[in-house]
Amino acid sequence: MARKKIIAGNWKMNMTPTEAKALCETLKPLVDNPDVDVVYCVPAIDLVPVSEAIQGTNVNLGAENMYFEEKGAFTGEISPAMLADVGVKYVVLGHSERRGYFGETSEDVNKKILKALEYGIVPIMCCGESLEQREQGVTMDFIRQQVKVGYMGVTADQAKGTVIAYEPIWAIGTGRTASNEQAEEVCKAIRETIAEIYDSDTAEAIRIQYGGSMNAKNCKELLAMPDIDGGLIGGASLKPDFGVIVNYNK
Ligand code: PGA
Repeated sequence: MARKKIIAGNWKMNMTPTEAKALCETLKPLVDNPDVDVVYCVPAIDLVPVSEAIQGTNVNLGAENMYFEEKGAFTGEISPAMLADVGVKYVVLGHSERRGYFGETSEDVNKKILKALEYGIVPIMCCGESLEQREQGVTMDFIRQQVKVGYMGVTADQAKGTVIAYEPIWAIGTGRTASNEQAEEVCKAIRETIAEIYDSDTAEAIRIQYGGSMNAKNCKELLAMPDIDGGLIGGASLKPDFGVIVNYNK
């Protein structure tokens, strides 16, 4: 069965609640495509206003992070129950900015994935190599390791419903997109890794996004690659361009 494409915006630390509502209004007529799952992954403070602003549309609510404990003395953190309560369907976990600036390890990401699944929230697990790793030729080993640790203890049935985003760090926010072939090569290797951990059914079902300077111009070719099932979009998700990406097949 063909995998449905999933186009997710990662707003990062942008958009006040007021701006978030306005952006939802701007994008509303532009992001209607029944062939695609559309997600806005937004800052925690925007979750409630955005959930209201997307009522009655095809857009799904996503968060950008989550803690792996249920509740308690974890000042500043957001729990999975809090996300589920406001209608969050997806959560970005292990983005390279979280790993790089906030010291998140693959073990942390693994705990978060398991907890999100417990609450029925679909994890979008990010992985990706640095420029140095690419130049040293260790990209595949590094990504395989991130995927294997991230998915420890996740069952095949659970894994089938999850999303992995391949985001080379050197392509994020730089305007330097991976070539179609580079992106496909790694997304394919991720699928092979999932087949190794589980089986070919699981590998065929899981959705793998590319992220890193995807935009209105380059999206069509990237999304035509056989192992690229969608995009995780930063900069271009804050503009009407996002509608062009969602409608890449029109
Ligand atoms: P970008 O960000 O599209 O601005 O490169 C992608 C991401 O970090 O998810």
